[in-house]
Amino acid sequence: MSGGGKRGERFSPLMAVIIAVIILAGTLFGYDQGVISGALAGISKAFHLGALLTEVVTSWVTLGALVGSLIGGELADRIGRKKAVLAAGVLFTLGAVLQSIAPHPPLLVGGRLVIGVGVGLAAVAAPLYGAEMAPAALRGRFVSAYQLAITIGIFIAYQVDATLTADNGGWRLMLGVAGFVGVALFLVMLAAPESPRWLLKVGRRADALAELRAVRPDADQPALLADMEAALSQEAHKASWREVFAPELRRPLAIAVGLAVYQQITGINAIIYYADNIFAAAGFASPAAQTLATTWAIGAVNVLATFIAIAFIDKLGRRPLLLAGLIGMGVSLVVVGTAFTFIGAPAAGASGPSADGIVTMIGLIVFIVSFAFSLGPVVWTVINEIFPGRVRGRAVSVATAVNWGAAFVVSEFFLTLIHAIGRPATFWLFAFFCVSGWVWIWRQVPETKGRTLEEIEQIWAEEAGLAPALRRI
Ligand code: BGC
Repeated sequence: MSGGGKRGERFSPLMAVIIAVIILAGTLFGYDQGVISGALAGISKAFHLGALLTEVVTSWVTLGALVGSLIGGELADRIGRKKAVLAAGVLFTLGAVLQSIAPHPPLLVGGRLVIGVGVGLAAVAAPLYGAEMAPAALRGRFVSAYQLAITIGIFIAYQVDATLTADNGGWRLMLGVAGFVGVALFLVMLAAPESPRWLLKVGRRADALAELRAVRPDADQPALLADMEAALSQEAHKASWREVFAPELRRPLAIAVGLAVYQQITGINAIIYYADNIFAAAGFASPAAQTLATTWAIGAVNVLATFIAIAFIDKLGRRPLLLAGLIGMGVSLVVVGTAFTFIGAPAAGASGPSADGIVTMIGLIVFIVSFAFSLGPVVWTVINEIFPGRVRGRAVSVATAVNWGAAFVVSEFFLTLIHAIGRPATFWLFAFFCVSGWVWIWRQVPETKGRTLEEIEQIWAEEAGLAPALRRI
């Protein structure tokens, strides 16, 4: 470890508070991803929605999240990481309440939009906060906790959907439950410290030192502060939007945006959103069998496999996990696609999936495991650690918005794609993106394990010939 970090640093109570913030924000993200599929039937029935309004109700959260993630970085830079997360908590609670009491579709859609903005805001501010607050040697784990929470949120949503019936207003409860998590996020954030990096940036040195002392009592705080100040002094002014796209930052921006896109175009959300549908096509005939397969083979496996990343991300590093995960994802997608070439219409009277259906299920499990220890957590970690402080908020915003945009495109067109080129070719296409992603990551993404945020900044500065080498680990 370098800078002011020390081996064997105690895990302070405030670090637990920081992790709780990250976990609550991730749970909101995941719950929102997973819950709508179960609520939709009841909503359509209650309001007699046509196809268009059903799509709007489903997708406007993503739209809101896109907007929320774009303003999130700006907000986190202006009012601080802490207030930005507090604002997300308020929006989330408000949106959940609006949705659950909505007497007519316009208010429901309004609630979806508000909650979306909250999700987008939290999706930028919380991991950014986590990356800035973590000791370098634990940063991967801190941000992976965010991914773990996303998967727990998805799993809880699958469970809630399976337990409540969407009819008779059950959908109101499904959507309203998220408000409690919003309140919890707000309350926990009230107790959390502000990021010392941000405090320094706005000239509050004494506050920055005080927060560092409280969060990392065993570290050499003055040395940590000096490192942060050195990095800040190279950043005489606050960056403009133009600077986010300036030539010397093209590398980190290309890496962040590339990772955000590859995380989505390799198919994760096609599987998360349409798991029931895929299992149905694989011969899981009854809705109960599909829900069971989705909840456990996708939802639970996703949670469990994320622990692999938490265990290894700061030991093995980011690159080995990304590269190994993409191999597992690619191979399993080829297997699933191939199994679908053999799966015909279910035989009349068949009581369960065929052998090919079982192969599909095993393939999907391998895919989820491979994603959960690699692209899931590692992409968010790298996005949040590779930008210099002066542009970090805005640049993370851009990458997060691109991620939501790509998620929207994939989930919107997955069924169309299946219709146009067939199920096997659709999965092979995702597999092709795994191969191209592997080559791109191999060539472009540097290892950032164990480096302080300030040392990571030096990588780009040196490449651009702007600064002398800092010490490396
Ligand atoms: C992705 C989400 C995805 C989730 C699945 C996240 O890292 O950003 O789009 O639904 O992982 O676990």
